[in-house]
Amino acid sequence: MSTFGTLFRVTTYGESHCASVGAIIDGCPPGLELSAKDIQIQLSRRRPGQSDLTTPRDEKDLVQLQSGLEMGVTLGTPIGLLVKNEDQRPHDYSETDLYPRPSHADWTYLEKYGIKASSGGGRSSARETIGRVAAGAIAEKYLKLAYGIEIVAFVSSVGKIHLPSTALPSLTPGNLDEEDDTAQDALSKDFVNLLSTITREDVDKYLTRCPHPETSEKMTQRILRAKSAHDSIGGTVTCVIRNVPSGLGEPVFDKFEASLAHAMLSIPATKAFEVGSGFKGTEVPGSQHNDPFVRDDSGRLRTTTNWSGGIQGGITNGEHIYFRIGFKSPATISQAQETAQYDGTPGSLATRGRHDPCVVPRAVPIVEAMAAIVVMDQLLIQNSRKTAASLLPPITTLPPTMVIPKKGE
Ligand SMILES: Cc1cc2nc3c(=O)[nH]c(=O)nc-3n(C[C@H](O)[C@H](O)[C@H](O)COP(=O)(O)O)c2cc1C
Repeated sequence: MSTFGTLFRVTTYGESHCASVGAIIDGCPPGLELSAKDIQIQLSRRRPGQSDLTTPRDEKDLVQLQSGLEMGVTLGTPIGLLVKNEDQRPHDYSETDLYPRPSHADWTYLEKYGIKASSGGGRSSARETIGRVAAGAIAEKYLKLAYGIEIVAFVSSVGKIHLPSTALPSLTPGNLDEEDDTAQDALSKDFVNLLSTITREDVDKYLTRCPHPETSEKMTQRILRAKSAHDSIGGTVTCVIRNVPSGLGEPVFDKFEASLAHAMLSIPATKAFEVGSGFKGTEVPGSQHNDPFVRDDSGRLRTTTNWSGGIQGGITNGEHIYFRIGFKSPATISQAQETAQYDGTPGSLATRGRHDPCVVPRAVPIVEAMAAIVVMDQLLIQNSRKTAASLLPPITTLPPTMVIPKKGE
């Protein structure tokens, strides 16, 4: 369906070429100072037409707040917002009246609904993600003010070009000794340092949104090569969430990583998700993969490593949460492809229109938004549980093994 979340509920609406796209956000706490500018920053990072590396469809994507706040302060009531579709050119897509685009959603939407939007991707278009990005910006503002939570995503690969500190050498067949149990560099100091320090300003220095000059330049050339060959290329986005309190996540079906996976794999063009050590962790023995505990200066338990990606038992443990999402090469390409028309007639399709040769630079704010929505929702759920429990009279008869020891005990 078009709604995500339990207590922080986001419903998006809109198709690629309708009058507007947007969202209703229910569950935003009252008393949050909020302006269109807070939302616009992220929408502008997502918008098309940003550079040669993205689709030339030219949309300013200016947000209009419709409800849920007065005098710049949220009322606790549903926030409605919209962005007008302005640069629609439905006629660009006339050949897709005849052909379902291979690996796009034209055929499956038709099979499912028995009817589909007459042009563009309809609801499957990335225009739909505008509502999510706006909702995420609202969640993020609350999370930052109330908890100091920071969310930063960045491009970690395009095609076979990887940001060095996130490269996974052991996933390249043939370059690993099968008997070698050493942990390699999946949690290299560089990577840990990157997760702790990276900012959106670092990321936005590069059109690719890969925060490493040489790698970014190689990625740029790779995307431009795909574009000039009328082709496309995929990539990955890595995201870190810092300062998340421990205790978020709802065992068993709404474990924190399950909610993250749900959120991330609902973004168009996603094909893969891994959290913490991910697939790489399967190659590392438990003796190296376990995150040992240590007491910090405040007496709190922390872990000395973070292969878990900040989540254990589906519950956040207070360490950085980090995860990676794989985005496929976009389906719409202007290179001729042998395929079949809706009626089964074989033919050749070379799609006109304006398309992203690679989606990852624009996917960065979408990933950040979905991460913010997940954290916000899980936080409101945990806070409601804690509030309910705090109203009960204290129980003094429990054995010490059942409760958190007091500091110093
Ligand atoms: C930011 C962004 C931009 C996208 N731009 C395009 C595009 O220009 N052309 C295209 O074919 N797909 C594009 N996509 C992906 C399609 O929306 C998606 O592949 C399509 O709906 C099919 O769904 P699926 O890939 O999730 O199966 C984009 C996705 C994102 C996240």
